[in-house]
Order: sequence, then C-alpha cells, then structure tokens
Amino acid sequence: MKTKTNLKKGLSLVAVSVAMVFLWVAFSGAVVECPDDIMIENEGWPKNKYEAAPLSHKKHTTEYKVQCADCHHVYKDGKNVWTEGQPVQKCSECHNVYKLGKDLREASEEEKTLSLYKAYHDNCKGCHKREQKGPIKCAECHAKIPTEKK
Ligand code: HEC
Ligand code: HEC
Ligand code: HEC
Ligand code: HEC
Repeated sequence: MKTKTNLKKGLSLVAVSVAMVFLWVAFSGAVVECPDDIMIENEGWPKNKYEAAPLSHKKHTTEYKVQCADCHHVYKDGKNVWTEGQPVQKCSECHNVYKLGKDLREASEEEKTLSLYKAYHDNCKGCHKREQKGPIKCAECHAKIPTEKK
C-alpha cells in the first residue's frame, strides 16, 4: 500500500519535472537558430526601386569571420546587450524611418539614426568599404526592378 502511493508520488514528480523542462525550453532556453541564407526585403519604401538583397549569414559568420553582434544589436545605456542565440528583431522594428535622398539629407539626427536606409547601407556597405572586400556597387547587392513600359 505504502510503496504504491510512493510510486504514484514518484511518477507524478517525474511528470511535473518533464513538464517543467518542456516549459523552460519553450519560454527561455530555446536558442534561436541562424538561417544560412536570407533575402532582405522590407515594405514601406517610398519607391520600391530595387529587388530584395541577399545575405549569406553562413559565409559572413564563417568565411568572412563577421561577428553576429557586428550586425545585430539591442542598445541599453549605450551598450549592445544582444548576444548570440537570443531572438532577433527585424532591423525595421527600430529603424523605422523610410526617408530617402533629399528627405534623408534634411532629416534630423534622430531620424538619421532611425533611418532604415542608413541602417543597411552604413552597416553592409560601410564594412565592405572599410575592409575593401564585398560589394559596394548598387547592382551587386540588389538589381533594379525593371520599370513597366506603358
Ligand atoms: C552581416 C550582418 C549579419 C551578421 C554577421 C549576422 N546577421 Fe543575422 N541577420 C542580419 C540581417 C540583415 C537580418 C534580417 C533582418 C531583417 O529582416 O530586418 C538577419 C536575421 C537574423 C535572424 C532572423 C531570421 C529570420 O528569418 O527571421 C536571426 C535568428 C539571426 N539573424 C541570427 C544571427 C546570428 C545568431 C548570427 C551570428 C552567428 C547572425 N545573425 C549574424 C544580418 C546579420
Ligand atoms: C532594438 C532596436 C534595434 C534593432 C532591432 C536594430 N537597431 Fe540598429 N540601432 C538602434 C539604435 C537605438 C541605434 C543608435 C545607437 C546609438 O545611438 O549609439 C542603432 C544604430 C545603428 C547603426 C549605427 C551605429 C552602429 O551601431 O553601427 C547602424 C548602422 C544600425 N543600427 C544598423 C542596424 C541593422 C542593420 C539592424 C538589423 C540587422 C539593426 N540596426 C537593428 C536600434 C536597433
Ligand atoms: C563587418 C563586415 C561586414 C558586414 C557588416 C557585412 N559584410 Fe558583406 N561581406 C563582408 C566580407 C569580408 C565579404 C567577402 C568579400 C570577399 O571575400 O570577396 C562580404 C561579401 C558580401 C557579399 C558577396 C559575397 C556573398 O557572400 O554573397 C554580399 C552579397 C554581401 N557581403 C552582402 C552583405 C549585406 C547585405 C550586409 C548587410 C546586411 C553585409 N554584407 C554586411 C563583410 C561584411
Ligand atoms: C552591401 C549591399 C548594398 C549595396 C552595395 C547597396 N545597397 Fe541599397 N540596400 C541594401 C539593402 C540590404 C536594402 C534593403 C532591401 C529591402 O528592404 O528591400 C537596400 C535598400 C535600398 C533602397 C530602398 C529600397 C528600394 O527598393 O527602393 C534604395 C533606394 C537603395 N538601397 C539604393 C542603393 C543605391 C543607389 C546603391 C548604390 C549607390 C545601393 N543601394 C547599394 C543593400 C545594399
């Protein structure tokens, strides 16, 4: 009789622990995997003149030895607190100013910081220029969308 209740207790304890491990994995432990290749494409550009731009995560992080945190950040008190494995927000969730050209040149400092155009071009093209490696020409990152002839 006694051993039976103990066994029952033991089993329910096991069940509870298993459930807890599942919950932990689901809510905190789950490491976010990094996809090998992505296409960068946002909606909301004033004129959608260019196709989506490809990015090889795999080549950048292995062959070119670029750190995840060279591109991904969450700033807290001026420091990047994002670390590998944490969920990644789209750049556009923070850089949500879509101005281009003259409108961007005349934008305030804050708008420039939050410019999505600058976020990509300063990050991507900026590094390629600094390292004198990687595409700098427009068409090497994104082809022009052909304009419809009427
Ligand atoms: C060269 C810059 C760069 C590097 C290095 C980089 N990423 Fe990214 N990553 C991006 C960009 C750009 C996006 C797309 C963001 C967007 O859509 O706004 C992205 C997207 C992601 C996503 C979301 C993918 C999806 O489909 O939702 C994850 C997760 C991610 N990166 C993880 C990582 C991890 C982990 C590393 C390091 C091993 C890493 N990234 C290195 C630029 C980079
Ligand atoms: C959680 C919000 C957030 C996300 C997501 C985010 N940024 Fe930023 N980013 C900021 C803030 C805030 C600053 C300004 C930091 C400062 O004032 O020093 C910034 C600054 C920058 C800068 C200029 C200085 C620097 O750190 O290099 C670039 C370039 C940039 N972000 C590109 C990107 C790209 C590319 C992505 C997507 C892969 C991205 N950001 C995602 C908030 C974000
Ligand atoms: C910190 C430096 C760095 C950053 C940031 C960076 N790259 Fe690169 N990228 C490189 C290097 C280095 C190469 C390699 C060039 C070579 O070896 O010929 C490269 C090559 C490329 C290539 C051509 C080869 C390939 O891998 O397909 C593309 C396209 C590219 N990068 C897109 C991007 C985009 C888009 C972003 C921004 C989301 C970005 N890069 C951000 C360093 C960087
Ligand atoms: C290193 C890669 C890279 C280079 C080089 C580059 N861009 Fe981009 N550009 C991007 C990325 C990434 C985006 C975001 C794509 C999206 O959201 O659809 C973008 C978006 C844009 C957009 C807004 C989206 C649209 O369809 O209208 C314009 C305009 C643009 N780029 C112009 C240029 C011009 C002009 C040049 C050459 C002087 C250039 N870019 C060079 C990576 C690059």
